[in-house]
Amino acid sequence: MPIIKAALLGLGTVGEGVYEVIQTSQEQLKKLLGAEVKVVGILIQDPEKQRQVAKDVLVTTDFEEILAIPGLNVIFESIIGDDPTVSYLKRAIEQGCHIITANKAMFAKHGAVLQQKALEHDVEIAFEATVAAGVPIIRTIKQQLQINKIERIQGLLNGTSNFILTEMRKNQLPFSDVLKQAQELGYAEADPTNDVEGYDAFYKLMILSQLAFGRQPNWDEVDLSGIASIPNEQIRTASGRYKHIAEIQKVGNEIKASVKPVLTDENHPLYNVEGVDNAIVLETNLAGKITIQGPGAGSKPTASAMIEDFIHIFQSKKATSVLV
Ligand SMILES: NC(=O)c1ccc[n+]([C@@H]2O[C@H](COP(=O)([O-])OP(=O)(O)OC[C@H]3O[C@@H](n4cnc5c(N)ncnc54)[C@H](OP(=O)(O)O)[C@@H]3O)[C@@H](O)[C@H]2O)c1
Repeated sequence: MPIIKAALLGLGTVGEGVYEVIQTSQEQLKKLLGAEVKVVGILIQDPEKQRQVAKDVLVTTDFEEILAIPGLNVIFESIIGDDPTVSYLKRAIEQGCHIITANKAMFAKHGAVLQQKALEHDVEIAFEATVAAGVPIIRTIKQQLQINKIERIQGLLNGTSNFILTEMRKNQLPFSDVLKQAQELGYAEADPTNDVEGYDAFYKLMILSQLAFGRQPNWDEVDLSGIASIPNEQIRTASGRYKHIAEIQKVGNEIKASVKPVLTDENHPLYNVEGVDNAIVLETNLAGKITIQGPGAGSKPTASAMIEDFIHIFQSKKATSVLV
């Protein structure tokens, strides 16, 4: 049976999920792909950390060692930031590796360039996990709405913000108490800036813009604010529900985007989406209004998106034809 050789860049929350799903789904993957999937290398930053990986896997802090693995077919990337990630991915593409990424901050900025490079080298770059984790929004737009024109996208793209707003309102609690609770539950990071200031949702919206409209608005012109900008009292006493909404639409030739808290009433399509869930409403010219909802973060939901991308790539003739 042919072998698909995979390397992981990053073995944190997401990377560990990907590793575990690959290890525990071997039989299913063989049936789906007609090939054995082997994780052969993992790039990490801290060599002192204990890792739960098989002894024959190369675990290294040196990307050159990963690239030097003979016959490497695919890279699952879940590290932080865009430097040196982008240069790693460019080199892997040049070497003929398919790429599957979860790194939204990196992909929002460099996705278009990486996609062009992948095209030139006849490999795939997949990014379902960058937006709303396991919720299959990228594939829905890319493959199920090809004849449709997307007119507007509205989304709750940050589970931490939605959780905090929901709990503050329901339990009449201050922002600081609910943020602490979110951190204890693992929903918010130790440094919650990206979530509560709206940057995380912003990056995801830019990725959706590129996909739906073929370009992004000028980043400086996006109306961006996070949930920390609304006074506590206002959230608790409002007649409706505050939701942190990322919205993008094409008006004439212009793309208008905003990421900010919005007071919704029960007629709003995102009013009933509570807690850590993400949800996206697509307004299309033929199919009408489509809403898709589910867990937008976490180890397993994010790994799910990456492994589904992987299966999709290796079910195509292009990828399997090069396996030995
Ligand atoms: N967590 C989620 O639910 C989620 C959902 C969707 C997308 N994402 C995205 O996925 C990525 C990873 O998130 P995470 O939650 O898994 O983060 P994490 O738990 O902090 O793990 C990051 C991993 O990347 C490694 N790493 C970081 N910088 C590196 C570098 N320059 N070179 C080599 N290794 C490096 C770390 O190494 P050490 O282990 O040695 O520290 C760690 O294994 C982020 O870009 C995030 O935005 C996360």
